Amino acid sequence: MSRLQGRKALVTGAASGIGAATVARLLADGATVLACDISSEGMAGTINHVANLADPQAIAVLAAAAESQLGGLDILVNNAGVCPVGTLEDLTDDQWQFGLDVNLLAPARLAKACLSLLKDSSTGRVINTGSILSRYGDAGLGAYAASKHAILGFTRSLAMELGPFGITVNCVQPGCIVTGMTRGMLENGAAAEYYRDKSALKRLGQPEDIADVIAFLASDDARFITGQGIIADGGVMTHS
Ligand SMILES: NC(=O)c1ccc[n+]([C@@H]2O[C@H](COP(=O)([O-])OP(=O)(O)OC[C@H]3O[C@@H](n4cnc5c(N)ncnc54)[C@H](O)[C@@H]3O)[C@@H](O)[C@H]2O)c1
Repeated sequence: MSRLQGRKALVTGAASGIGAATVARLLADGATVLACDISSEGMAGTINHVANLADPQAIAVLAAAAESQLGGLDILVNNAGVCPVGTLEDLTDDQWQFGLDVNLLAPARLAKACLSLLKDSSTGRVINTGSILSRYGDAGLGAYAASKHAILGFTRSLAMELGPFGITVNCVQPGCIVTGMTRGMLENGAAAEYYRDKSALKRLGQPEDIADVIAFLASDDARFITGQGIIADGGVMTHS
C-alpha cells in the first residue's frame, strides 16, 4: 500500500515550484489533495481551489472546502510564499504587511481554521515552509527573513500546543531551489553559479528535493519528529 493511502492533504502555493511538486508527490503516495493557489493555472490536485491567502475571509472559505469537499484533513502544507525584496530604506509598509500576511499570518490563520479537522485525524500533520533565511539574514531580504524566522518560532510553539492531540508540526527550510520565486534571480548566471558552488553537492535544488522532505514529514516514518526546522539546502549553509 502507498504510504499516504487514504490521507487527506491541503497544499497551498500549489500552482508552482515546491507546492506543485508536493501535490504531485503526495498524490503519488496515495493521498487525496486539495490544492490551493491564487490562480488556477498549473494546479493539479484532486480538487483545485483558488484563493488569495492574504485575505482572512478566503482562508475561512478554504478551510470550509477542506471539510465539505475533502471530508476531513490529515496533512496541512502551508507552502504559499512571497519574497518582498528591498532594503529597510526602500521597503514600504504595504510590502512588509503583504509579506507577513502571506508568509506568516496565512499559515497561522489556516492552521486555526483547520484545527478541529486536524484534531479529528489520527495522523495529523502541519508542515510549514520556512527557509534557510529562517536562520540567517541577507541584505535586501529583511522582510522576507523576518517572516521566515517567525514561521519557525510559530512552528515550535504550535508543536507544543498540538502534540497532546497527536499532531506533529514541522518546518521545512529550503536552500536555493529553482522555482518561480528564484527563476529571475537565477537567470543571472553568476547567481546560479554562486549557489551551486557554495553547496556541498555542487548543484541547485529542484522542487522535488523539497517535496520529498515534505512527504516524509507527512508520513508515518516521521511520527516522532515535531517542532523541528529541517534544512534541505544541499549543504549551502554547512560552511562559512
Ligand atoms: N525557491 C527557493 O529558493 C525557496 C527557498 C526557501 C524557501 N522557499 C519557500 O518555498 C515556498 C514555495 O515557494 P517556491 O519557491 O515554490 O515559489 P513559487 O513562486 O514557484 O511558488 C509560490 C506559490 O505561492 C503562491 N502564492 C503567493 N502568494 C499567494 C497568495 N496570496 N495566495 C495564494 N497563493 C499564493 C504563488 O502563486 C505560487 O504559485 C515559499 O514559502 C518560499 O518562501 C523557497
